[in-house]
Amino acid sequence: MTETTAPVAFPQSRTCPYQPPAAYDSLRSERPLTRITLFDGREAWLVSGHATARALLADPRLSSDRSRPGFPAPTRRFAGIKNRRTALLGVDDPEHHAQRRMVVGDFTLKRAVELRPRIQQIVDERLDAMIAQGPPADLVSAFALPVPSMVICALLGVPYADHDFFETQSRRLLRGPETADVEDARDRLEAYFGELIDRKQQDPGTGLLDDLVHRQLREGALDREGLTALALILLVAGHETTANMISLGTFTLLQHPERLAELRADPRLLPAAVEELMRMLSIADGLLRLAVEDIEVAGTTIRKGDGVVFATSVINRDETVYPEPDALDWSRSARHHVAFGFGIHQCLGQNLARAELEIALHTLFDRLPTLRLAAPAEEIPFKPGDTIQGMLELPVTW
Ligand code: HEM
Repeated sequence: MTETTAPVAFPQSRTCPYQPPAAYDSLRSERPLTRITLFDGREAWLVSGHATARALLADPRLSSDRSRPGFPAPTRRFAGIKNRRTALLGVDDPEHHAQRRMVVGDFTLKRAVELRPRIQQIVDERLDAMIAQGPPADLVSAFALPVPSMVICALLGVPYADHDFFETQSRRLLRGPETADVEDARDRLEAYFGELIDRKQQDPGTGLLDDLVHRQLREGALDREGLTALALILLVAGHETTANMISLGTFTLLQHPERLAELRADPRLLPAAVEELMRMLSIADGLLRLAVEDIEVAGTTIRKGDGVVFATSVINRDETVYPEPDALDWSRSARHHVAFGFGIHQCLGQNLARAELEIALHTLFDRLPTLRLAAPAEEIPFKPGDTIQGMLELPVTW
């Protein structure tokens, strides 16, 4: 970076929902590390190089503990939040390790394979309902959101009948618009899970939350507050993210008819295609950390107290790892992308998310071979840059 270059403001909104904002071009040319300005004028480090990102995401000198003073905030609405703990995503080892160990057995590859028939059944039912009512349809509300919501409810033992409530509150938690909305949504979700946990203590069911009530709460490894925080992150992370990948993945495929045709002709490409879509779309674009010690990296020193932001959309387009990074290409090896993060916080639900994406995208295009957008692509609204990326609506017809 030259002395005269003003740091790029981060985050910014995309102009095309599957491409990083044009304003991030300079971040791409200044790998592996550069300076950015956050919404409040505070500067932070932006990690843009793939190897540096993986090294730093695995570095315990970067904390994820959002309750630490000086933890960087991506937007005004998160800056004002009182210092409350977020399970898993917001804690460091050894606490993180203890929490992760309680749930990791339910998110293994084997478990995701076992869940496939149930996921297929949910996908089929949602498509039956959408087809019975259309065309046209809003793919977000008819398919992309309900599928992962139903899957995570089944896995956790949360009644899907409550989905209007928790989907609305999750949306407020992630997108505000104000700090008060984020806090109120969190309070409501915590109250909801507190009551659900109490009910499960009286009347046990068969989900992961029921297991946690019996194994951890009873044995004292978790208290009610800890279990509530764990339930909240699992439910929110388990449906919002995958819903965005389904809607944005569908939009991207419809904008790349040659790639879609290849996928239709050979469904064995599906796992590679899901990985490449994950890389290309990088929907969680701005992972946050705080340096708790000085770190020498790439000829620079990140100082204790500095905020560090990982722009996954930029990291996943590092041309030294992914030649022609802006092209959607099923034949490249997109493995090692950081769209699920890396290190101890690497996405707990990645096996489940991959299974859901493969089944949802395959079944959607298989059952509706004439699926197409029902509005001009440029008029379809997508999410702003300061939250998980995805489509707000996706009008389709067939
Ligand atoms: C395609 C969909 C998904 C994407 C793009 C995604 C992305 C991510 C990313 C980038 C992280 C790391 C965040 C960081 O390091 O700061 C993460 C963590 C996490 N994800 Fe996902 N995720 C997805 C689906 C899911 C699903 C289905 C679940 C199911 C419960 C889930 C649960 C979690 C949890 C609990 C964490 C925190 C893990 C930890 O801190 O140990 N995610 N996810």
